[in-house]
Parts: sequence; C-alpha cells; structure tokens
Amino acid sequence: MSDVYGVFGYPVEHSWSPFIHGMFARQTGQDIVYHLHESTPEQFREDLPDFFRDGGKGANITLPHKQVAAELMDELTPRARRAAAVNTILATDHGLLGENTDGAGLVTDLKSNLGLVLRGSRILMLGAGGAARGTLGPLLELKPRTLLVANRTRDRALQLAQHFQDQGPVSACLFDEIGRESFDLIINATSASLLGEVPNIPETAVSSGSVCYDMSYGVRETSFTAWGKRMGAGACAQGWGMLVEQAAEAFFLWRGVKPDSGPVLDALRKHVAAGTQPGAVQPDR
Ligand code: ATR
Repeated sequence: MSDVYGVFGYPVEHSWSPFIHGMFARQTGQDIVYHLHESTPEQFREDLPDFFRDGGKGANITLPHKQVAAELMDELTPRARRAAAVNTILATDHGLLGENTDGAGLVTDLKSNLGLVLRGSRILMLGAGGAARGTLGPLLELKPRTLLVANRTRDRALQLAQHFQDQGPVSACLFDEIGRESFDLIINATSASLLGEVPNIPETAVSSGSVCYDMSYGVRETSFTAWGKRMGAGACAQGWGMLVEQAAEAFFLWRGVKPDSGPVLDALRKHVAAGTQPGAVQPDR
C-alpha cells in the first residue's frame, strides 16, 4: 500500500503541493499518495491527530495552522522551535516531529536558483508575521552585514528582531523609518500582495543592484514585483522557487531522497505562463 501524506490548510483547494509532491514521487520512484485536507481552525486540533492515527506518514501545514501545529508536536527541530511554527510533520516511532522548511526553501531559492551571494549583504525584510519569523534564522545563518525588519506595526518588528538577536545583526523599524540607504535584497513577507497593495517603503531602498523578492506568488506579476520593476530593481522574483524548495526539503525529511527541484519549477512556470492550475500528479506504479 502507498504511504499517505497530505497538506492541511484553510482554504487549501488551490494548493500546488499535490502537484509538486506528485512530481517528486514520480521522479524518485517513491510510492506515496498526497491529498488535500481542508481543515477549519476549529477542526484542525482534531483533524491532524486523526490523520496520523489513521496511518498518515507525514504532512505539510499551511496557513493558518502553522503555529497551532507547533503546539501539537511531540518534538520540534531547532528551526521549528525558533520559528514557533511548523510547515512539515514526520511521524516517527516517538511521535510527531515538527520541522520548518520555509527558511531553507527561501535560502536555496535565493542561492541556487537566483545565484545570490548574501554573505556581507544588506537585507530588508518587510513584515513581521509568521512568514518573516519562519525565515529569519536561515537568512541570518548566511551572515549578512545587516538584516533590517520593517513593519507597519512597530512592536511586532521589535519583538521579532529581539527574538533573533543572538543569531546575527538584526534590527527593526517602521516602514517610514527605513532611511535612505538601498538594499541588496528586499524580501516582501507581508500579506500586502494578497490585497494588491505594496508596503509603503521609500523608493530609495531600491537601486539597480537590488533584488526584490516576494514570498507571495501568482499567475501574474504581484503588486510588489511590479513595484520593484517600476523602481528599477536589478531583478524581481516571486516565491515560486521557495514553494518548490521548501517542498523538496519536506520530501527529503519524509523519504530520505532529495528530489530534483528544477524540472518541477519548469513545469510550474509553464502552468503559470499558460494561466492554468494543474491537478495532482500521482506517481506511476
Ligand atoms: P503571515 O503568517 O502570512 O506572515 P501574519 O502573521 O498575519 O501572516 O502577518 C502578516 C504581515 O503582513 C504583518 O507583518 C502585517 O503587518 P502588521 O504586523 O502591521 O499587521 C503585514 N501586512 C498585512 N497587510 C499589509 C499591508 N496592506 N501593508 C503592509 N503590511 C501589511
């Protein structure tokens, strides 16, 4: 019988994860099935244990359940503990192990797919919610010169910077306190793109050497990548690569085999260019 995996979210019907993990499984010859589980915030605390009681081997967790998932784990990896959020769960002999692969996925996309060298760089992180929190640790491990967290609400930014202070040169401010320096990398971890909005940051933050990276993604330009282009950024990218790379890390944790993310990213890009959403791909058996 195939090993059972799935993703929990609310809403979750537009998730690309079944397609991505289906392609990984086919590529590596792993016998798995992967299903969508739409679970409301009220149901999630029951649905997740039920899934593993019924034999589930592993799960991905997406919005809005990542923080609650961390509370439901028997064990957390250091990254998941620091992020206080879980996006990947592995069923082990000792119970449920919670991991957070978002930061590693972002870093792999920045380094391997976009070819960025971030050691000594100036990074601006926009937003101080769960998406920022899940990625600050792995970004600081790259030893940037500065990592400034800017947010609409000061206290959240300050708290986040304080939480990661022992890991590197992280500081915090409001959007209008960013100043006039430009940044090598500007990461949008706010949910503004989902509303078609752009965080209100100074135009001087962007130069021709800047990369504007939006953790959000869509079949069209996001409001943030469109803004970056208008401001003359050297490059702009949406979070498609992060999506595929965080999934590759999860797949490796589950199956012990590292899939090749390149062909999956190419396939996603074709769907994006065609404006279509693929159905799930199940492995050949
Ligand atoms: P997530 O888990 O996706 O990060 P979240 O924890 O609700 O979601 O955080 C959303 C982030 O986007 C926050 O930093 C939020 O700013 P506040 O802390 O001030 O609420 C930010 N955000 C949401 N909408 C925004 C907008 N229109 N402009 C700028 N920032 C926005």
